[in-house]
Amino acid sequence: MRILSGIQPTGAYHIGNYLGAIRHWVKLQEDNECFFFIADLHALTQPQDPKILRNSTIEKAIELVALGLDPARSTIFVQSQIKEPTELAWILSTIVPVGELERMTQYKEKSKKKGKESANMGLLNYPVLQAADILLYKTEGVPIGKDQVQHLELSRNLAKRFNQKFGDTFPVPKAMVPSLEMGAKILSLQDPKRKMSKSDPPDSQLGMLEDPDSIRRKIANAVTDSGKQIVFNPAEKPGISNLLVIFSLFSEQSIKEVEKKFQKKGYAPFKKALGELLVEKLEPFRKKYEELKRRELYIQEILRQGQKKAQSTAQNTMEEVREKIGLLSF
Ligand code: ADP
Ligand code: TRP
Repeated sequence: MRILSGIQPTGAYHIGNYLGAIRHWVKLQEDNECFFFIADLHALTQPQDPKILRNSTIEKAIELVALGLDPARSTIFVQSQIKEPTELAWILSTIVPVGELERMTQYKEKSKKKGKESANMGLLNYPVLQAADILLYKTEGVPIGKDQVQHLELSRNLAKRFNQKFGDTFPVPKAMVPSLEMGAKILSLQDPKRKMSKSDPPDSQLGMLEDPDSIRRKIANAVTDSGKQIVFNPAEKPGISNLLVIFSLFSEQSIKEVEKKFQKKGYAPFKKALGELLVEKLEPFRKKYEELKRRELYIQEILRQGQKKAQSTAQNTMEEVREKIGLLSF
């Protein structure tokens, strides 16, 4: 299957990004044709300092390789280094009703903060560029966390609409969302009603590269629910259920097994054990990251190779699209 997914270069990747998305990418690359990219153009919908953006784009490539993406198996590249998605996004924007974009949850939330008058056009257009990313590479499967499902629905609609108008061109891409137990929505450590997010305060998220003391402290301070029992019940005990999912995924034991293990113990010993587990499981990632950090030229070479491969696929699709919709091709 042809698989593609993207991730923004802002903020350090947290265990939600890893458990909900990146971990699945690492598995998928074993027997699929995979494209993974750093979505720097999407990041521009929020104000960015140019120097910081440039550094963090490279930094995120280092992190992705440290977390397990393998350049020999996957095409790893930076979104803005391929011009075609912005061209296709323009074309797709002519077949999407504005109302459909205004109903997107992410747009509603982000534009509410500023008011519709000053929210930038990129926020509204965000899912159209995302659809262009997906369709341009004739993607069949898109591994994402739960928060991106609505954007994927739009990509599917646009693929169908384009195919209907201009003839079969794009496969209709499938969202590949893990179950809650498999990490689709890891919650904030401080407010377990919300998802863990890079844009929230540091104590609410656990970075994949944090040092042991910080890991222990954040887990010890994680907000839990009233009561004493360690049981998986996302509706009534979102805090403990979230920690159970994290424990289960990093220890590769089922939630049932973890519940059983801590049946007669209180929250404190459970959190202590989780802190130690995370310290142990995250250490190899930190080591790999430190090693790669010293090899920036190698990372640049990975991105250059990725750009080459992605570009040739993108150019082929774009030629086909131009031909189908009646743009000149000489
Ligand atoms: P964030 O929302 O933290 O800024 P991104 O929007 O860049 O992260 O998301 C990158 C990938 O990680 C997406 O596939 C997204 O669905 C997934 N993801 C983000 N937050 C979580 C979370 N808390 N739990 C599970 N998956 C998540
Ligand atoms: N919007 C996605 C996010 O914030 C990133 C992204 C951009 C993406 N283009 C994509 C994800 C294409 C999947 C497919 O997480």
